[in-house]
Amino acid sequence: MKADKLAGARVATQAPEYVRRIAPYVPGKPIDELAREYGLAADAIIKLASNENPRGPSRKVGEAIAAAAADVTRYPDGNGFELKHALAARYGLGREQIVLGNGSNDVLELATQAFLRPGDHTVYSRHAFAVYPLATQARGAIGIEVPAHDYGHDLEAMGKSITASTRVVFIANPNNPTGTWLPVSSVKAFLDHVPREVVVVLDEAYDEYLDAEQQSPSAGWIAEHPNLIVSRTFSKAYGLAGLRVGFGMMDANVADLLNRVRQPFNVNSVAQAAALAALADTDYVAESAALNRAGLRALGTALDAMGVTYVPSHANFILIHVGDASAVYEGLLRQGVIVRPVASYGLPQHLRVTVGLPHEIERFVAALASALHR
Ligand SMILES: Cc1ncc(COP(=O)(O)O)c(C=O)c1O
Repeated sequence: MKADKLAGARVATQAPEYVRRIAPYVPGKPIDELAREYGLAADAIIKLASNENPRGPSRKVGEAIAAAAADVTRYPDGNGFELKHALAARYGLGREQIVLGNGSNDVLELATQAFLRPGDHTVYSRHAFAVYPLATQARGAIGIEVPAHDYGHDLEAMGKSITASTRVVFIANPNNPTGTWLPVSSVKAFLDHVPREVVVVLDEAYDEYLDAEQQSPSAGWIAEHPNLIVSRTFSKAYGLAGLRVGFGMMDANVADLLNRVRQPFNVNSVAQAAALAALADTDYVAESAALNRAGLRALGTALDAMGVTYVPSHANFILIHVGDASAVYEGLLRQGVIVRPVASYGLPQHLRVTVGLPHEIERFVAALASALHR
């Protein structure tokens, strides 16, 4: 049969209009792609584009992965017994209150799958994490984007945007790509005022990078606020972005719902074993956070010296103001440095730069100075 090039396009028209309108998520440029496009050696390229942990996994995680590799012919434990057990103990919750995800991105998706009907509203901040509008739109729901305050969430305005149509509110704390952070007391005050039937997804992907006194006690709020879903990840300070494992903490009834809509084996066996080892390796997480703090300080000093302004960051990346961001992005790429353009977040004059290892920070600073002609 002759291939009909239009046939696929006709099939695509059968998808709901709200799915066809989704703007695809644009990930950070892969190292190999830049190497191919610019004829650069892959090992001469540094990637500071996806907020990954720059250190490589902990030795204990490496050992756990090697041990788990022997069992990959078997399906994983679909209930994640051991990992949930360890997480429940860490956060003072019951195992039935934990939902594992293929990255915390999965948990965000599951929350929308469980709670949104077409036409429902979600509320999130301008410049907040891209997955909130994406997951909203994939359900045919309507995202209400609330203007930001100093690049961060304006919780008062977000509260006022809640109507009878609102089912889910997303809060990223700290937020990506701005690195802004809301004090614990203001998040708690927001929760105290939100109607109890509205689900609040509190996305704490970067919490481990905060100073101890700033870290979120939100797991302890779930008993009082059964409408709260706290989302966490092993992708950042735990260093497991490539394995895709995250988790949500919530009321057991809510967890039961999310578990019904998730794939039965959404977190693979190697990822479960690695996450279990990573959770126990508290030194690695503390060292990662300390390295990140030092890196943020070094970046701040260098940017100040160059006269480049930035949004003070509470995460493992920093949002810097460069003016013509696409030109500066290109200028950095040519020098083998990948950062993240954020025009799709409504920030066409900024770039987001992940905190790398000390030598990567030095390379980035020198490349930025050259790209900005300073
Ligand atoms: C705020 C925020 N939430 C969630 C995620 C999802 O990460 P993962 O799916 O790797 O857990 C990210 C990733 O960058 C993020 O920045």
